[in-house]
Amino acid sequence: MADSKDAHDTIDALLGENRTFAPSEAFRSQAVVSDPGIYETANADIEAFWAEQAKMLDWYKPWDTVLEWDAPFAKWFNGGQLNVSYNCLDRHVLAGRGDRVAYHWEGEPGDQQTITYKQLLDDVCRAANALSELGVKRGDRVAIYMPMIPELPVAMLACTRIGAPHTVVFGGFSSEALSDRINDAQAKVVITADGGFRRGAPSGLKINVDKALETTSTVEHVLVAKRTGQDVAWEEGRDIWWNDLVDKQSTEFEPARMESEDMLYLLYTSGTTAKPKGIVHTTAGYLLGVTATHKWVFDIKDEDVYWAAADIGWVTGHSYIVFAPLANCTTSVIYEGTPDHPNWERWWEIIERYKVTILYCAPTAIRAHMKQGPEYAEKHDLSSLRLLGSVGEPINPEAWMWYHEHIGKGQTPIVDTWWQTETGMIMISPLPGVTTTKPGSATFPLPGIDADVVDSHGDSVPLGQGGYLVIKKPWPAMLRGIYGDPERFKATYWSRYPGLYFPGDGCKRDEDGYYWLLGRVDDVMNVSGHRLSTTEIESALVANDVVAEAAVVGQPDSLTGEAIFAFVILKAGIEATPELGQELRQFVANKIGPIARPKTVMFTPDLPKTRSGKIMRRLLRDIASGRTIGDTTTLADAGIVESIREASLSSKQDD
Ligand code: WTA
Repeated sequence: MADSKDAHDTIDALLGENRTFAPSEAFRSQAVVSDPGIYETANADIEAFWAEQAKMLDWYKPWDTVLEWDAPFAKWFNGGQLNVSYNCLDRHVLAGRGDRVAYHWEGEPGDQQTITYKQLLDDVCRAANALSELGVKRGDRVAIYMPMIPELPVAMLACTRIGAPHTVVFGGFSSEALSDRINDAQAKVVITADGGFRRGAPSGLKINVDKALETTSTVEHVLVAKRTGQDVAWEEGRDIWWNDLVDKQSTEFEPARMESEDMLYLLYTSGTTAKPKGIVHTTAGYLLGVTATHKWVFDIKDEDVYWAAADIGWVTGHSYIVFAPLANCTTSVIYEGTPDHPNWERWWEIIERYKVTILYCAPTAIRAHMKQGPEYAEKHDLSSLRLLGSVGEPINPEAWMWYHEHIGKGQTPIVDTWWQTETGMIMISPLPGVTTTKPGSATFPLPGIDADVVDSHGDSVPLGQGGYLVIKKPWPAMLRGIYGDPERFKATYWSRYPGLYFPGDGCKRDEDGYYWLLGRVDDVMNVSGHRLSTTEIESALVANDVVAEAAVVGQPDSLTGEAIFAFVILKAGIEATPELGQELRQFVANKIGPIARPKTVMFTPDLPKTRSGKIMRRLLRDIASGRTIGDTTTLADAGIVESIREASLSSKQDD
């Protein structure tokens, strides 16, 4: 193991994994990508490769240059012109595919809508006309704060049709978060709804907009879709009902001819500590990057019914619910609500009802289903599924196996996709018809992506070791900056290793060169001079049959610098006892070595998570070290920290 006093810091690699899953011949022979030669072709000439791929989009005017790279500022397909909504809608309708279903939409209370490409195009044109009537012009910013209703993708596409960048603010965020984002983006119009349904109850959105607008000065109008029918306050002249304005509009709206590098949207990363960053994505490179990766990674065919069970308010929803699936003329499912409403069968019912073939979701959801047990899924016919995906956090090998066995019935490949709001598109992932997978590994960088794992000096670490992930060459969907703050852009992503993109994630490569993401580098613990990632210890805990989920943090320790503190959620029906805590500590030591033995195991009913399901280890560190709890604004359930403190039972090392 590496010594932290070594001048070239790395991260220890602890966990081994020998199970492998090669693509079946049946899958391989029908796959969109089945030739491993694609990696070599792409990497031999990345620009030529992406230029070839760019034929999958429709252009008003071809580009002059594929890439202009003045690090860290990239221009892709400069000189080209295109429109995103045209690529997502018009071209399919013109090709006679207007009757294809774009979205099977299902509301939480059970209401359903089937929306074809032609209907979606009509709706988008109406909404674009409505926004124009409200004074929205090319280049103006529009804030969108909505539940997962059909008007949300319609609003986003209408903005792209006009050429007005949108900034979608997740509907679970507070009025302050909304106001900060409106101010930073200087938004002219806000699109919202009266409210949305969450776990059976209507929750207000318009009320938060009203509050947010007390501290903003740029918003001229608020367009309000009706979802829950709850009472809302109304400011005449400023507020307009969606139905009153949009329904009467024409279904013709000429798409704006956008330049490749025109801003497409801003998306604020929730930022657990600092001021949120407005990540800038532009038009051509982004659309190409997401469309190509969607097709390859999810093996998209005309017959597929694809469901990304994420929220459109996050980048996963932007890239892989809205833009890429529509550009690929895919039939998708959108579900408004939570997986446990009215009970834990909901997801499996949806898969059975729409005969979903591809499911893409987060490890946190998989672990939540694991905690409940496989009985819920077993009651439903999931035989339509042919491919499963995972995104958002490292997926523990045992969660991967559970997904494989209980949802994929041991048959369907799993694609564990690593990427970020900043990367715009999937960067590290298996190609399901090519790659032999290992549970818990995102496997390899996609064709055209040049990545490496380096030590603190930026030197590549040998296979078998851990370090810091970097991306060495530009890619089409990369962020173009932080809105209005080029210095912060350089400092955050490009200064640690000059010329290399630094995503902030730890990573190891095993002897076969597979990439294993190790979590955020801020979460790396230093225990007796060993730099340990939280991920591998969590995965070791989840490998025990009684554990559904685990979160590990470092706790200040006078002897070892930091000591390992593990929060553990047990599966339904398992009793938390001090003996079990001791057993789990020993289990980790046996599995990955005594250095990784948690000093403390604390059983807890739940964990603090962001709204997108990421564990907030920062708050857990506060609990573990007895500090006052820091900023909880991005927490999904604010009461959780207190309930952990009260309900927890911990087992400590006897020393
Ligand atoms: C983490 C979500 C391991 C990672 C698309 C990254 C992952 C951050 C994976 C970005 C994965 C995402 N394996 N870790 N497959 N996918 N992450 O911006 O730490 O919400 O930097 O984008 O999530 O989160 P974001």
